Amino acid sequence: MAGGVYLASEWRLRNVELPDPFVATIPTDAASIEHGRHVARIRGCFGCHGQSLEGRVYTDQWPWVELAVAPNLAAYAQEHSPATLEAAIRHGIGVDGRALWSMPSYNWTNLSDSDLVALIAFLRSAEVQPSSHPKPKLGWSARWEIASGSVMHMADWVSLVPPLQYQDHPLPAMRLGEYLAMTMCNECHGLDLRGAVAPDGRAPDLAILAAYSEADFRTLLATGTAIGGRDNLNLMSMVARDRFPDLTDEEISSLYFFLNTLGVQPVAEDVPWRPKNE
Ligand code: HEC
Ligand code: HEC
Repeated sequence: MAGGVYLASEWRLRNVELPDPFVATIPTDAASIEHGRHVARIRGCFGCHGQSLEGRVYTDQWPWVELAVAPNLAAYAQEHSPATLEAAIRHGIGVDGRALWSMPSYNWTNLSDSDLVALIAFLRSAEVQPSSHPKPKLGWSARWEIASGSVMHMADWVSLVPPLQYQDHPLPAMRLGEYLAMTMCNECHGLDLRGAVAPDGRAPDLAILAAYSEADFRTLLATGTAIGGRDNLNLMSMVARDRFPDLTDEEISSLYFFLNTLGVQPVAEDVPWRPKNE
């Protein structure tokens, strides 16, 4: 029985379509590396992999996984090819060819090639901090859920990410705003930004921005404090303080512009990130 669950879960984790290997020249100039740092900062790589990219061990954040380990990213980037990094970052597939489960790759499926190469350039240039982490472990309850098909692994989630729709739009704010929202906010607010069940409650439909002035929105992103002076939105305040102070004025006003167009669009019902009955 236990052996069957193990084999069935391994079969699901390994039965993923490998992407065509990503081939790119990774720049080494200071401007590209600095841009890569910005990409990593606003997408949360530091929050989960450590402020010096030294890696982090998660014992309770993802309770259904017994032991999740976010590896030392600076070391990983020096040891592995750009194709291996790209498979993990955009497709949710690890260096061993198995689907990842805790790393939110669906958030970066639409990351552009130019941002991706800058990100890899930065990771490769980062000083490697010494670290020794235990081996990650998938517990039996997680294996059972994977084997029975009741949860999706990361490669499954990646396959649900909708394509960008407005990248040919005449307004630059619409293009940049959509791109940023769909590679930053969809981690928690749903693959379509219209709300999701998040680890610590519900992340609202981002059409909620209709209630925000641009100044309120800037305050939220820079300080984690929402309208009404609410300064503890749990996960939102935490990620805002870690990631969003690095956003430029143009990035913030583009996000604001794009997110304010969401309200007139219909909201899809009963999608996996927003089940009807939860
Ligand atoms: C929400 C937390 C979280 C964020 C944000 C995050 N990671 Fe991860 N990452 C993990 C965890 C946990 C793992 C270990 C694999 C797993 O459990 O899915 C991981 C694994 C990886 C791996 C190794 C995959 C393998 O096993 O071969 C790479 C590469 C990686 N992350 C890169 C990044 C980059 C680049 C960013 C920023 C764009 C990032 N991560 C942001 C949590 C995170
Ligand atoms: C790591 C998860 C996470 C990410 C990433 C994230 N959010 Fe949130 N956000 C949440 C959660 C959870 C809430 C609900 C918090 C609560 O009410 O306690 C929330 C709430 C909000 C609110 C509502 C505040 C209010 O007035 O109640 C806004 C606006 C918002 N997020 C905007 C954004 C934008 C814009 C982005 C991308 C730039 C983003 N969030 C990225 C998790 C996240």
